[in-house]
Amino acid sequence: MKGIIIAGGSGSRLNPTTLGLSKHLIPIFDKPMIYYPLSVLMLAGIREILIISTPDDLQSYKRLLGCGKKFGLTLHYELQEKPEGIAHAFLIGEDFIGGSSVALILGDNIFFGQEFKAILMSAAQLSQGAKIFIHQVSEPSRFGVAEISESKQIVSLEEKPQKPKSNYAVAGLYFYDNKVIEIAKKIKPSSRGELEITSINQEYLRQGLLSVGILGRGFTWLDAGTSESLLEASQFVSTVQNRQGLIIACLEEIAFNNGWITIESLIESFSSLGENEYKSSLGKLIKSIEKAGLK
Ligand code: G1P
Repeated sequence: MKGIIIAGGSGSRLNPTTLGLSKHLIPIFDKPMIYYPLSVLMLAGIREILIISTPDDLQSYKRLLGCGKKFGLTLHYELQEKPEGIAHAFLIGEDFIGGSSVALILGDNIFFGQEFKAILMSAAQLSQGAKIFIHQVSEPSRFGVAEISESKQIVSLEEKPQKPKSNYAVAGLYFYDNKVIEIAKKIKPSSRGELEITSINQEYLRQGLLSVGILGRGFTWLDAGTSESLLEASQFVSTVQNRQGLIIACLEEIAFNNGWITIESLIESFSSLGENEYKSSLGKLIKSIEKAGLK
């Protein structure tokens, strides 16, 4: 399976900050926002990833992440000239996807929870249809909303409904078979002029090929699209990291645990960073690996 991160859009809800800086480069506590969705794809075992961003910002992502080698990844980059919607990613990424299945994650979505890696690895095995994830929220009308039957099947999906049929928001993480490209070519732009990801999911639902994972209340799903949610996300990451002494979305750690990079590569990343918590956490990881005699 291949992966796509969509890090486009104007980020207008974060103006004036986003007049000078791409939204997905804004830090969530101690690392750029894009590290979080990237960590999710890596936890799913996905190594070939396309990052889609705007003409103004693509260069910054290249500077930050390069070819992906230090994280054991192969990164590709493509432009989205205008904000034509999330589902537009499958048209931009058609050559990249080729004959593969694909996971798409939004650049401002942050996920944290027990057993998430197992959930992701299983979703990445998908060979037919689509899989989406839902989570209860207090303001569902800000999101795609799923109506769920008693047997926990999806009955309907609506994008930002004024009268939501449930509190289940559709999270910005989606797994699709290769037919997603053909479906993306057929859907029509919504009233806001965008190819909506919800239209794609509605089509899979219509064909009886949409499955759903419920991220329960012990799970945390945040988006960082407004100043308030950005602050909440930073506070969340800071609280958990300080308590546990572990770093959320430490890409080098995930890459090492996946067997994608060597300890030498970890040491190289460690040496390239300035003094801070991220670096000292990498230092602790290197010491524990050396102590355990792992390579
Ligand atoms: C998008 C999707 C929406 C989904 C949300 C998750 O909304 O259109 O269905 O629930 O991401 O973050 P947007 O970020 O465009 O407001």
